[in-house]
Amino acid sequence: MTPIMRGLGAARCATWAVLPALALAALGPPTYTAPPFPTSAFSSYYVAPTGTQQAQPVIVDPVSGKTYEPELTDPNTIPQQASIPPLPLPSGILDSSEYLRSLALAQILAIANSSAPAWKDSCTKCLAGTSVAKSLAAVAPSEIPTLAIELCEKLQFSSSCNVTFSILNYGALVAQLLQMADVAGLDGQNICNYIFNGLCPAPSASPLGDLSLWFSKPKPSDANEWVQRRRTQAGQRLKVLHLSDVHLDPRYSTGSEVNCTSSLCCRNPSSSQGVAHVQFPAPYYGAYKCDSPLALVMAAFQSIPNLTDTQATGFAWSIYTGDLVSHDPNNQLSQDYVTYTETVVYEQMKRYLGSGPLYAALGNHDTYPAHLDIPHAGLPDDIENEFSWNYEHLSTLWEQEQWISPNEAEQARAHYAGYSVKRQDGLRIITLNTDFWYPDNYFAYINMTNPDISGMLRFLTDELQAAEDAQERAWIVGHVLTGWDGSNGLPNPTNLFYQIVDRFSPHVIAGIFFGHTHEDMFSIYYANNATTISAATAQTVAWIGPSIVTLGNLNTGFRMYEVDSETFEILDAHTWYSDASSFSTLDHEGPGPTWKYEYSARDAYGGGINWPSDAPLNATWWHKVTERMEADPSLVQKFTTYQGKLSQLTPACTSADCVKQKICYMRSGSVPISRQNCQTPQ
Ligand SMILES: *[C@@H]1O[C@H](CO)[C@@H](O)[C@H](O)[C@H]1NC(C)=O
Ligand SMILES: *[C@@H]1O[C@H](CO)[C@@H](O)[C@H](O)[C@H]1NC(C)=O
Ligand SMILES: *[C@@H]1O[C@H](CO)[C@@H](O)[C@H](O)[C@H]1NC(C)=O
Ligand SMILES: *[C@@H]1O[C@H](CO)[C@@H](O)[C@H](O)[C@H]1NC(C)=O
Ligand SMILES: *[C@@H]1O[C@H](CO)[C@@H](O)[C@H](O)[C@H]1NC(C)=O
Ligand SMILES: *[C@@H]1O[C@H](CO)[C@@H](O)[C@H](O)[C@H]1NC(C)=O
Ligand SMILES: *[C@@H]1O[C@H](CO)[C@@H](O)[C@H](O)[C@H]1NC(C)=O
Repeated sequence: MTPIMRGLGAARCATWAVLPALALAALGPPTYTAPPFPTSAFSSYYVAPTGTQQAQPVIVDPVSGKTYEPELTDPNTIPQQASIPPLPLPSGILDSSEYLRSLALAQILAIANSSAPAWKDSCTKCLAGTSVAKSLAAVAPSEIPTLAIELCEKLQFSSSCNVTFSILNYGALVAQLLQMADVAGLDGQNICNYIFNGLCPAPSASPLGDLSLWFSKPKPSDANEWVQRRRTQAGQRLKVLHLSDVHLDPRYSTGSEVNCTSSLCCRNPSSSQGVAHVQFPAPYYGAYKCDSPLALVMAAFQSIPNLTDTQATGFAWSIYTGDLVSHDPNNQLSQDYVTYTETVVYEQMKRYLGSGPLYAALGNHDTYPAHLDIPHAGLPDDIENEFSWNYEHLSTLWEQEQWISPNEAEQARAHYAGYSVKRQDGLRIITLNTDFWYPDNYFAYINMTNPDISGMLRFLTDELQAAEDAQERAWIVGHVLTGWDGSNGLPNPTNLFYQIVDRFSPHVIAGIFFGHTHEDMFSIYYANNATTISAATAQTVAWIGPSIVTLGNLNTGFRMYEVDSETFEILDAHTWYSDASSFSTLDHEGPGPTWKYEYSARDAYGGGINWPSDAPLNATWWHKVTERMEADPSLVQKFTTYQGKLSQLTPACTSADCVKQKICYMRSGSVPISRQNCQTPQ
């Protein structure tokens, strides 16, 4: 008998009051001051931590067996260019043709410069120019990197055109994209909107057609009762950790300029820039304009077991919502740099987070070139497996840490690092590669009328259907959020995601978890594509977890959920932070950063909502929170201070417009819904 069946008889009359209360989870002390760098965490070092240098541990990759060289992460030897092209050029009819390239260049410049009425708007010009470039990409693709550099320079798109579009950087990507995309159609509209910064207006979501063809079965008519049935079982409160956006910077240079003017700060200036006078020296534990030094990552990981009181027990499980790698420009990255970071961070998570498994999603920075993933289907063979090295590395690491089984690792290799775990306790955890709805993944611009060219959403739907058939509950874990202000997603895939969430909520999906923004936020998903937004139609909530990294004027933080062991719903969310403005007074010898309890979601937002103490913080509750925010805008300001983890640099949100817009974002789970409902009136 499944737990659900056991509960059936009592279903209709069950109420919270008759159930025994779940004991609250114990927390550790309210603050924790990290000790100096735990040198025993690594077996040997190229450079031991000092006042002026971050530790450079010697890392042996357990997948490849190779030892990473010290140059890879030496802050003084940052490469300015790749040594081999990161992507292959597509093949064409001609090996090269300077002649055709010069014709294409002249044509595109003439289009760009024309004031004739036929070229009335920038969108027409962009689509026409892109079509000319596409014809060159079909015939002589090897000319595309040079054409892109020439155009970029002539049209003054950037000051580093020759670096950006070199064959050692994005040159081949442009050629691949031009060859495969339908530049005269929706692909071109989107390329000219997103990549060329608004030259075309934002295309609206394409019709999804008959969705019953997408789902193999209709939603069960008693879906709303499923969760109530589960609630007749009194469970326990499980402790589940949510970490996000570590962004380890292994080239972080203590004492370098915090307030730099270009690219990633807290880095040594490259030799060509000369040694600049340092105005604000980078503290040992990090700064607001920088990625995380190893010292910060280790301090954060050390604080977690103490603050959450899990030294003895560990967590039931942990989730990681992506982005391990630093924000370097692409020309400073490499495959080795990505696999190095994956190895260091996951090994330390294993060391500090205890025995429970960690389920992780790949972030847009956790690949090389950054943001890119290629759909497997329908593309030339020589390109479609271009990123298997990464899926292979991640899935093998996760398997070696014993977080996932060999079968699940096999699935992750086949599904762009996404996988589905059927836990023994009846929860299914589905992790996704969300780069397929991320606008900086240029391969997502191929065949955009298809909202799922990668098959990632088909995979999600099939797993959710399997969960429904088995009467399990499911969590979805990804990196890039689907909604909020709409700036991080593409319209068609997020529109489809929203319909999938509707189909399997509230009975199957018990939680959605994202990261990416570095901020502490949430999104509510409603029934019927949010045509009615109310407490009665709120179905699911996405928790967007705070980052470890302080980049973006934010403090560092992490979260632990109390999870009902029967329903897998969230009963409370506890968040901790450390104030990065205090880091300038800390050095490598003394005590490290102090971590503090920030807030309980239930206590912070629950006042005035009639909600039993054992009822979950589900979408209904979060919708009621937004209703209270409408009545009391100071609650939006409270949310805003938590959004930046109490950073004093987080802009206030007190004007009526800001309050209204932020509440709108909380209620927008897809790009089209955000655009439709939350556009600022002109
Ligand atoms: C947590 O750390 C504090 C010191 O910062 C220590 O006093 C306390 O014993 C630790 N808690 C546990 C349970 O180890
Ligand atoms: C655009 O046209 C102007 C004058 O009509 C000319 O001076 C200029 O060189 C042209 N620019 C390009 C990029 O062709
Ligand atoms: C790019 O152009 C600049 C200035 O024109 C030059 O100094 C630099 O060496 C070039 N870089 C590459 C990679 O060609
Ligand atoms: C960083 O520099 C900018 C302008 O160069 C200045 O406005 C800002 O106050 C500086 N930040 C700090 C922390 O000094
Ligand atoms: C894109 O569409 C074309 C034509 O409809 C098709 O041949 C190709 O396989 C599609 N590619 C992908 C990646 O779906
Ligand atoms: C949220 O929990 C309350 C209290 O148990 C319940 O009445 C409501 O139906 C739940 N909402 C959803 C969307 O599951
Ligand atoms: C959902 O609503 C948005 C905003 O109105 C709309 O653009 C989109 O097409 C709708 N999706 C479906 C499947 O109806």
